[in-house]
Amino acid sequence: MYDRTLTTDSSTRLTIETAGSRRTVDLYSPEGLRAVASMWVKLGAQYKLMYEPTWLGVPIIQFPSDIVLMQELLWRLRPDWIVECGVAHGGSAILYASLCELAGKGRVLGVDVEIRKHNRATLEAHPLAHRIELIEGSSTAQDTFERVRRRVAGSGCVVVVLDSNHSTEHVLAELRLYEQLVTPGSYLVVMDGAQADVWDIPRGQREWRLSHPLEAIERFLAAHPEYEDDPHYTRLHVTCCPHGFLRKKRRDEWSAPLVAEHQPYPEEVAIR
Ligand SMILES: C[S@@+](CC[C@H](N)C(=O)[O-])C[C@H]1O[C@@H](n2cnc3c(N)ncnc32)[C@H](O)[C@@H]1O
Repeated sequence: MYDRTLTTDSSTRLTIETAGSRRTVDLYSPEGLRAVASMWVKLGAQYKLMYEPTWLGVPIIQFPSDIVLMQELLWRLRPDWIVECGVAHGGSAILYASLCELAGKGRVLGVDVEIRKHNRATLEAHPLAHRIELIEGSSTAQDTFERVRRRVAGSGCVVVVLDSNHSTEHVLAELRLYEQLVTPGSYLVVMDGAQADVWDIPRGQREWRLSHPLEAIERFLAAHPEYEDDPHYTRLHVTCCPHGFLRKKRRDEWSAPLVAEHQPYPEEVAIR
């Protein structure tokens, strides 16, 4: 029988206790929303819920809320190329390809250090195979990048998604390389910044606390004022990619001072 005993009202407060710390927020305040979303991300990561969805039959390693908002972005931009570093089973490549198919334009270029035989076979047999090309190699190797650059050269709109190795140094190296391909008005999407928020879960890893995409994003934005963090595509709060949707300003927006002051991110609700 469905359990309906968890009732709340406008005075409900949420207290999170861990060894040595205690924090209470009003459940229905914006802070309460952020706290519950942050808890959901921790629990989702603990229970590996991002491994549950499939897209048109192929496993995609994403939270549903991120899938929906990526769909919004791609449907709005109708890119000519979506370059994705980190293919895994290929579900995200199929997602992007399905939107290209509906839009009647666009292709996906997937880069992965190891494209397993069965994953390649699945993608090659898929009805959307004609929208997908694969390159095997480390995303940060110069020859891999040159192959990608040659393939997308001269295209009208290029979106790049970084979802491979999530260490700070690797993501920073990818950002510096692949930002060159992003066309003005388009986006450089950095997945899995939430690694910074889930190092403390029971199955978390301590090194995630110090090495994660958020640090790379912060350093990249400090040096690239032509990019801005667009919070529109993380507005559902339940996301693997906080601060991950980086919009490249159009040239007419970019007459701005060459050196913009970088604002550190507002502190996330700390529930530790
Ligand atoms: C999180 S999975 C990608 C998930 C996929 N984008 C999705 O949404 O379903 C990460 C992938 O990155 C790949 N990877 C790890 N290091 C890499 C590197 N240096 N260059 C390219 N790909 C890499 C792994 O082989 C793995 O397939």
